[in-house]
Amino acid sequence: MSDLIVVQDEGAVRVIRMNRPEKKNALTQPMYDAMTAALREAGASTAIRCIMLAGGPGAFCAGSDIGEFQRRVEGGLESITVEFLHTLARNQKPLVAAVGGLAVGIGTTMLFHCDHVVAATNAVFTTPFIKLGLVPEAASSLLAPRRLGYARAFALLVMGRPLAAVEAKEVGLVNTVVDAAAVDEVARKAAHEIAALPAGAVAVARKLLRGHIDDVVRQIDTETDLFTERLHSEEARAAFAAFFARKK
Ligand code: COA
Repeated sequence: MSDLIVVQDEGAVRVIRMNRPEKKNALTQPMYDAMTAALREAGASTAIRCIMLAGGPGAFCAGSDIGEFQRRVEGGLESITVEFLHTLARNQKPLVAAVGGLAVGIGTTMLFHCDHVVAATNAVFTTPFIKLGLVPEAASSLLAPRRLGYARAFALLVMGRPLAAVEAKEVGLVNTVVDAAAVDEVARKAAHEIAALPAGAVAVARKLLRGHIDDVVRQIDTETDLFTERLHSEEARAAFAAFFARKK
């Protein structure tokens, strides 16, 4: 397993931490692969009763690696991101997220699959898909309108308006906003609280609350087809080039 994803079991809680701080935890294919494996393994383990997703101070996750998007366009990279998304959607263990700073793209959309989200006061949630010439992924086009209401989902997913931590709490994406230094601790405490509940009853209740997962997976597949198409668009190519040219 890659050290860009650090997996630690703390009693009944599995902590899956994105660990590529120099790139703000932008996710590469090996990182997706490692996260998929860590989720599947936790799913198969009776000892693990809750999973915590975490990043680093200042950055939870800057989204998918844009350099890899370019390599996909050039035909030099096969994507396995969809396997991560399916695994995340079908995962049956409660998921807690500790968002210690910026959450971009999939850094935000993965949170719609989480059950409890703790965010730092300086956390900012953005999904700049459209500005990149792309479309929403991770079933966010289904889950965001459900969770936030259509108007807020449009502002976030299409207009690319950022949500600050306090706003994210107001609209129901985040449970608790705490000082950056306390994010991991508060999230860990919530994860252990969930892990201490009767696991069978939690699993059934979670399933009831989450509704029809097949619909979610179907939406992921539809979005993935469109996302892949959009990756090859002129709009996307220009946006990726602009991202890497911005510091020159
Ligand atoms: N893909 C590839 N590299 C990324 C990245 C991404 N999604 N996000 C950040 N990085 C890299 C930067 O290129 C930079 O690398 P460098 O030091 O080699 O130049 C490094 O991470 C630090 O990022 P930087 O832009 O210098 O930090 P910042 O604090 O000024 O800005 C962000 C942070 C996240 C706001 C900015 O990097 C950004 O907008 N990233 C793209 C986010 C995105 O669009 N994700 C895809 C969504 S589908």
